[in-house]
Amino acid sequence: MKAYLSLITAAALGLAACSGQQSAPAAQEPAATASTPAAAETAPETASEAADNTAATPSCEAVIESNDQMRYDTDTLTISKQCDEFTLVLKHVGQMPKMAMGHNVVITRTADIAAVAKDGQSAGADKEFVKAGDERIVAHTGLIGGGEETRVTFSPSQFGDGDYSFFCSFPGHEGMMRGKVVLTD
Ligand code: CO
Repeated sequence: MKAYLSLITAAALGLAACSGQQSAPAAQEPAATASTPAAAETAPETASEAADNTAATPSCEAVIESNDQMRYDTDTLTISKQCDEFTLVLKHVGQMPKMAMGHNVVITRTADIAAVAKDGQSAGADKEFVKAGDERIVAHTGLIGGGEETRVTFSPSQFGDGDYSFFCSFPGHEGMMRGKVVLTD
């Protein structure tokens, strides 16, 4: 069957492929529908350029899911410094209300987690457990409950040297809900 189709394709191409009838049919099938040889030649180049762009462009958005089991679905958040702006989306896929199982994402130096969490909890539920104007915080989302989603957009240029992490500042959550921020060039 395959050999039969190959013969038909070769016939459709006429005598143009006189030097490679054995291996040519599969590669040249798209060309057989193109109106001119020039059009057929540009198609592979365009596809190649698209692939290159995809590989070179970093993703400037990440999605983290959280749940009723006091967990994020990842323990790493990769952020490219090539991004002018980075958007972090937080989803709460559980059902519990915000005041029982609230989650946010706070990004700060790993060494500052305990102090930032403590100050956030002192700030209270009205402030969504984030101290207003806390300069140790690179970015943070709002606090959400089950079924909700929130996002924050910030500039990765705010990161300095050193080790950064993300965590949930809801009281008692920072031990279970935390992960590493991985910065890439
Ligand atoms: Co939480």
